[in-house]
Amino acid sequence: MLVALATASVAAAANGGFTPVTPESPNASHTQTAYYVILAFTSAIFLIVEGLLVAFIVKYRRRGRARTVEGAQVHGHTRLELIWTVIPVLILCVIGIVVFFELPQISSAPASPDPIHITVEGHQFYWQFDYPNKARSIGTLYVPVGAVVELNVTAQDVIHSWWVPALGGKIQAIPGHPNRFWFRAEKAGTYTGQCAELCGLYHASMTARVVAESPAAYNAYVSKTAATTLGKQEWAGVCATCHGNLGQGGYGPNIAGDSVLATRSALVGLLRNGLDTARAGAMPPVGDTWDGAQIDAIAAYVKQHVYKAAPIGG
Ligand code: CUA
Repeated sequence: MLVALATASVAAAANGGFTPVTPESPNASHTQTAYYVILAFTSAIFLIVEGLLVAFIVKYRRRGRARTVEGAQVHGHTRLELIWTVIPVLILCVIGIVVFFELPQISSAPASPDPIHITVEGHQFYWQFDYPNKARSIGTLYVPVGAVVELNVTAQDVIHSWWVPALGGKIQAIPGHPNRFWFRAEKAGTYTGQCAELCGLYHASMTARVVAESPAAYNAYVSKTAATTLGKQEWAGVCATCHGNLGQGGYGPNIAGDSVLATRSALVGLLRNGLDTARAGAMPPVGDTWDGAQIDAIAAYVKQHVYKAAPIGG
């Protein structure tokens, strides 16, 4: 019964618990191979050590003897000591060989005639993506399925960490120190990720999505859709994180009725400078690096879709 319970809980936790998510990129697959090799050894060692511990507790329990009775005196056991030295050395060698065999295939992208270069920039508390044709998206990265995507990962304010588990491991996003990373989405679909470096009070909400779609859909996105939906993306990916989807408030205050949304100069000042930034949990200067098109996009979007003038007498 206990065994059934224990194994059932392990099985239930298999994904999202003890084991990595199903890999959908070659580097994620190689990471998983290394993970399982190490897991096999550590599981076996855990069972042996805990089993012996329980056996010794039972076998050498006190059995009513006086506390002052001495146990049998033993001195050294050369063969046993050799065994428990040599076996761990061999285990570490095997793990080392496997890891060093897998590492190059994790860190280096496979040769590709036309990899797609994308700059990933972490901000408090959103991800911004710049495509080769200068298109920009926020929160969601669009890529063609099956293409090698090379990421240039950086940050604007503090250290963040790019992490979409199905598409490979973590890479730090550090201001002024770009890091390289890559993936190749093997299947069309949406892959979710999470900033993996504590970057401020709203770190937990700094999620990311990667949408892998057909090359035609990708081309349509970067040539047209990215620009026409920029304001909406900025609202959903940047503002709504703290202020709620309708601006109704959440972590940040209710802004749906705030006339700043309809007053361009005030809105620009707020986006560029933040508010009360010395205070923990204050509004960060989310738009301090935005260009004119981005500012225009958010100003138009919030004025039209979010701002609800306060009812008269209300
Ligand atoms: Cu960005 Cu945590």
